[in-house]
Amino acid sequence: MRVLVTGGTGFIGSETVIKLIENKYEVVIVDNLSNSKEAVLDRIETITGVRPTFYKVDCCDYEAFRGVFEKEKFEAVIHFAGLKAVGESVVKPIEYYANNLGSTSNLLLLMKEFGVKSIVFSSSATVYGIPKRVPLFEDDPVLSATNPYGETKVMIERILEDACAADKNLNAALLRYFNPIGAHPSGLLGEDPNGIPNNLMPYITQVAIGKRDHLRIWGNTYPTPDGTGVRDYIHVVDLAEGHVATLKKLVTNPGLVVYNLGTGKGTSVLEMVNAFEKATGVKIPYTIEEPRPGDVAANYANCDKAAKELGWKAKYDIFDACRDAYNFQQKNPNGI
Ligand code: WQD
Repeated sequence: MRVLVTGGTGFIGSETVIKLIENKYEVVIVDNLSNSKEAVLDRIETITGVRPTFYKVDCCDYEAFRGVFEKEKFEAVIHFAGLKAVGESVVKPIEYYANNLGSTSNLLLLMKEFGVKSIVFSSSATVYGIPKRVPLFEDDPVLSATNPYGETKVMIERILEDACAADKNLNAALLRYFNPIGAHPSGLLGEDPNGIPNNLMPYITQVAIGKRDHLRIWGNTYPTPDGTGVRDYIHVVDLAEGHVATLKKLVTNPGLVVYNLGTGKGTSVLEMVNAFEKATGVKIPYTIEEPRPGDVAANYANCDKAAKELGWKAKYDIFDACRDAYNFQQKNPNGI
């Protein structure tokens, strides 16, 4: 089966490409390299022995994107491409709506023209907004997200719902990721953010290698066991496996399906710091700062539906993820 992976040189995309190749899928990557590097292809080839077909194309560029569909034949698409920095989206909402919605509508128009009937969409737990209760279930209400980035995910989920309602032959899986962390066990691929990391794990690993002085913990007065924010941290390799399991589900023509991809377990910031220190032996100094605007107290998943319908469950824990993330950071102190 030949699969198009948009955003396939990114953190989650590249791990998913590895799992696809290992499961004997043929992979074509389309990526504009706005937040990743072409060198990721070398790493994928080193790990799998296969170099996926690659097009440096922006999914917002309809004619260039159409050119890929004219050259290649796909049975399915996994759509990762998009801008994804929460804070940046608040400052640049128009760019986020234009890019994330424009790229997706181009993709869906081209899938329709070229008869591609299955799409796996990289959604996010952010679509749940400020959770009324945790753990979150797939049929919990999708509220307006707390930022334009999250809003683009809400809107794209609506677009896919409407597209599936209009075309009974279209199959779409909305995968709501919680907090992806970790790296490929080889240390060749991992989270490689530009500039100062927004997310917790890459900030911790940069402190661990001495690139950053200390971790700033955004608030310890939340209504959680130790006052710091609680999240559902899922190993990126588990996440990648979830995409392969979802492709197999779409072959059964289920129409629109929605799954939480998490571990079902909440971990606080302080628990993560302690886990990292235990897993790596490296001390992480930190200060307690004011809460970060837009943060929620707790956000973690119920993943029974993915277990039941996809036969998928997260296998790795936060200690595995800390070890793998640190290994990647040590081997790539300045990124890939
Ligand atoms: C996790 C916890 C912070 C950094 C975001 C997006 C979400 C998804 C995953 C794309 C929180 C605390 C963090 C730091 C800290 N991305 N923290 N110091 O905000 O849960 O989710 O990334 O889909 O859409 O919203 O992840 O890693 O930023 O924060 O104390 O330097 O760590 O307050 O409690 P978040 P995060």
